[in-house]
Amino acid sequence: MPQLIAGNWKMHCLTAEAVALAQAIAAGAQGIAAELLVCPTALHLTAVAQALKGSIVAVGGQDCHQAKQGPHTGDIAAPMLRDAGATWVILGHSERRRDHGETDELVREKTLAAVEAGLTPIVCVGESADQRAGGQETEVVGWQLAGSLPKPFTGIVAYEPVWAIGTGKTATEEDVEIMHSFIREELVRQFGDAGQTIRILYGGSVKAANAASLLAMPNVGGALVGGASLNAQEFLAIARAAQGG
Ligand code: PGA
Repeated sequence: MPQLIAGNWKMHCLTAEAVALAQAIAAGAQGIAAELLVCPTALHLTAVAQALKGSIVAVGGQDCHQAKQGPHTGDIAAPMLRDAGATWVILGHSERRRDHGETDELVREKTLAAVEAGLTPIVCVGESADQRAGGQETEVVGWQLAGSLPKPFTGIVAYEPVWAIGTGKTATEEDVEIMHSFIREELVRQFGDAGQTIRILYGGSVKAANAASLLAMPNVGGALVGGASLNAQEFLAIARAAQGG
């Protein structure tokens, strides 16, 4: 299976900037063997999906509500993301867990809603700096996996240590090797053979300069890229460091 390089644009870009970024990525995506995905704000999904039409770059949302529709002011339902052109959605990102108090149980409900709407979920897990300092990183990630993933699970997991997100600090190769093999074991424990094929992305200060070594690690199925995904050339350089199927 090819590696997936996913750009999380977070709360960045006005419409024209988002479209220009998408166009620049699409223009340079020819010949890249990895799967490519960009996740703009929900507001820009339609315009970005339009700009990427006919390219190999897919579009995803950054969150969805757990209900199909209803009285939830300001929220966005999974079928609306699908309708706007998304085929993927990031769920349970640590910034949503932090800013909106999202729990594992809520992330699991959102994951179910996403799959029902025909979206492929990317479910994020990862420990804080304090949890790692306390030696609890695998325990925390184990609980998050057990609580956030529905059974069966048809999607992707992203390991994003909170202390590495937007900080310029990247997990060491050893950290990644230990955590990704732990996540693989947990996925197999939870889902049996199906757990062997679930891709596990690494996220947290991935950039062109460190992508090749991170993407070469066992059990790394791609990268979830924040800051570096806002620069088309940097994002494409990361994608060129990834492996095809
Ligand atoms: P970063 O963000 O690459 O800016 O660290 C990663 C993420 O939050 O997905």
